[in-house]
Amino acid sequence: MLPKLRSAVVCLTASLSIASGQTFRRLGTCPELGCVLPPDQQEFLPGQQFDIRFEVHAPKNGSEAFNNGVADEKFTATIAKGGGRPKSIADFFKLKEPTLETWTFSWHEDLFAQEAKTPSIVNVASKIYRRVALYEPGEYTVTLNYYSGKKTTAQWTVRPLATKKKAKNVVFFIGDGMTTNMITAARLLAHKTVNGKYQSLLALDKFPVVGHQMSHSIDTFITDSANSASALYSGHKSTVNAMGVYADSSPDPFDDPKVETIVELLKRIWGSAWGAVSTAFLADATPIALTGHSRSRYTYGALIDQALNGVSNYSWTKMDGPDVYFGGGAEQFLPGSGSYQGKDYYAEFAKKGYSISLNNTALSAASNRDKALGVFCRSNFPVWLDRNIFKENLDKLNNDPSGAKGSAKDLPGLKEMTLKAIDVLHTRGGQQGFFLMSEAASIDKQMHALDYDRALGDLLELDDTIRATIEKLKQLRILDDTLIVVSADHGHGFDVFGSADTKYLNAKEDDRDKRNAVGVYENSGLSQYVVAQPGVSYNTGPNFPLNWDPRYVIAAGMGANPDHREAYGVDKTGPRSPAATIVNGSSDYYVNPKDKPNGFVVNGTLPTDQSQGVHSLTDVPVYALGPCQDAFGGTYNNIDVFYKIADCLGLGHGTNKTEDRGK
Ligand SMILES: *[C@@H]1O[C@H](CO)[C@@H](O)[C@H](O)[C@H]1NC(C)=O
Ligand SMILES: *[C@@H]1O[C@H](CO)[C@@H](O)[C@H](O)[C@H]1NC(C)=O
Ligand SMILES: *[C@@H]1O[C@H](CO)[C@@H](O)[C@H](O)[C@H]1NC(C)=O
Ligand SMILES: *[C@@H]1O[C@H](CO)[C@@H](O)[C@H](O)[C@H]1NC(C)=O
Ligand SMILES: *[C@@H]1O[C@H](CO)[C@@H](O)[C@H](O)[C@H]1NC(C)=O
Ligand SMILES: *[C@@H]1O[C@H](CO)[C@@H](O)[C@H](O)[C@H]1NC(C)=O
Ligand SMILES: [Zn+2]
Repeated sequence: MLPKLRSAVVCLTASLSIASGQTFRRLGTCPELGCVLPPDQQEFLPGQQFDIRFEVHAPKNGSEAFNNGVADEKFTATIAKGGGRPKSIADFFKLKEPTLETWTFSWHEDLFAQEAKTPSIVNVASKIYRRVALYEPGEYTVTLNYYSGKKTTAQWTVRPLATKKKAKNVVFFIGDGMTTNMITAARLLAHKTVNGKYQSLLALDKFPVVGHQMSHSIDTFITDSANSASALYSGHKSTVNAMGVYADSSPDPFDDPKVETIVELLKRIWGSAWGAVSTAFLADATPIALTGHSRSRYTYGALIDQALNGVSNYSWTKMDGPDVYFGGGAEQFLPGSGSYQGKDYYAEFAKKGYSISLNNTALSAASNRDKALGVFCRSNFPVWLDRNIFKENLDKLNNDPSGAKGSAKDLPGLKEMTLKAIDVLHTRGGQQGFFLMSEAASIDKQMHALDYDRALGDLLELDDTIRATIEKLKQLRILDDTLIVVSADHGHGFDVFGSADTKYLNAKEDDRDKRNAVGVYENSGLSQYVVAQPGVSYNTGPNFPLNWDPRYVIAAGMGANPDHREAYGVDKTGPRSPAATIVNGSSDYYVNPKDKPNGFVVNGTLPTDQSQGVHSLTDVPVYALGPCQDAFGGTYNNIDVFYKIADCLGLGHGTNKTEDRGK
């Protein structure tokens, strides 16, 4: 379906009155004093459940001060299909009129106001209509009437989508923060060229269809991983740090208007099996946004409870927990301050029939018939490079998932978790098929730390997992029924610009001399990382470099960074910490004297309170293989990834097939 260019003229005039790209906004999706959530330009799958919130703002002071800070409590709202007669929201959805809510919030209008600590205060009157759905494709106009005569409208589109299922299963790989530049660099490290021609390729290189998706948040052009994952899973963009909701201005992070996610839809409509696998902690944004509905990605414990029990504190789709849940993050499962209400979530999952695995041996022995929880460490997984090459670094960690002191032993990798997940999901999904999300989380986490070797090692682990997944699906004779999509949630401004002679760099004293170790253009040379040959297995198998510490390494950098030192070459002692504070407890970051002491200083481009690199603007690639693969060519928005998958899974049910309305 072509993107809508509707109301181009209206949008142009509207944008003239709003300065673009402001640092702070009163509420990102609400430039006027009346807010409709979901806001203007939103799209829906037929039958997809969501909540509608209206807010009327009365700024008490600041540049927008209005009506002495008294919010209109008598506002009304209507919805009209096409050019039809508007009906009140309650009548249209056959709901009781909800009770009025009021609250107050504050925001800073610019950096000067923030420095001077002069927030603008806003009083709010609001109503929320919970758990509605639009079943008929077409255009809808929602109008909020307030302050006798003011109007805010939102145009919504319900897309006409297929109800026919074209793929039985979907495996969705997310390389967190993964860009085309990183894929190119990983290929260079692990695959050999002869006279400019690769002798072997990445698994990704063999996908038949590649597209590009735009990762912007709903109200900022740089996204974080919560709302970008949420867009991929729900077809609804959101605000930084939010998932499964449109961010409202209320203080409670759980009361924001929700949208139904792909796994909630898939369970409700087809009863398929689903699972999530990640090398992050399971409550981290990318895995948890499959089920999470929260304004704050940091509500970790509650989000794990939502994954197991569904949203329990507001009327919402009733959901059983995942069929497969493999990752890190024992903090949210061990009873204590990290878990919801201090409960033991290993026990909570076990009560609901899950097998519980805390190491790779237990994982491979777990039954394929039972629901499976696997938590293999505290926090994020150690990265592939430390798990496979610099193994001594693992012993320093205090990350045993059972809560015992010491390091996690016998960790699976992304490949072991993903292949086991497919066994369980294939068994449990039966005729209804399955959906699996598998995330290589530390591509992003190590790019943040400017630790390019560790990031690219995890990218190669993802590629190896994809290769093994295709083989596995073939063996199970379900490759032809399975759509495989590989994408990212956002990028980082990483690229390679030459090679670096680490021997020369380390021999020089002066920072400017050290920089002459970088060979550009005709001096960029050939990488010595290249040793793996197809069919030749080293300790880590083919498709990975044998030598991670050659003399000549890639010279790479980031578009945005804190103050740091650069020496290129791998850190054998563990992940980097490029910047550090000088005064304890401060958040003012300088070059970390302990990081790459042989390197030259690179002054930062980021605000001085940033200790790491940050996400960037770039579009990210989408690779597709299997039924519906052709739909993924071209350039489109991140929400379109959801619609393409939903179309392939036949989730566009224009019917009223709701199991109950939860009242
Ligand atoms: C608004 O009023 C509050 C006190 O109610 C004050 O702290 C704040 O500085 C005021 N903001 C502006 C922008 O005047
Ligand atoms: C439910 O919402 C309340 C506040 O509205 C919050 O304290 C609690 O953590 C939430 N629980 C879950 C599981 O989301
Ligand atoms: C792995 O888990 C099993 C079952 O919980 C346990 O018996 C075994 O000792 C564990 N192995 C290691 C290496 O921790
Ligand atoms: C800062 O903290 C470190 C330990 O984290 C301590 O060794 C050092 O003495 C502290 N410095 C100051 C000035 O408090
Ligand atoms: C980095 O910035 C500091 C001032 O913040 C300056 O003294 C120093 O010379 C700069 N170093 C380089 C290599 O640009
Ligand atoms: C949905 O249900 C309502 C009331 O039960 C009915 O009026 C409406 O026609 C139904 N819509 C569809 C698309 O079936
Ligand atoms: Zn991310």
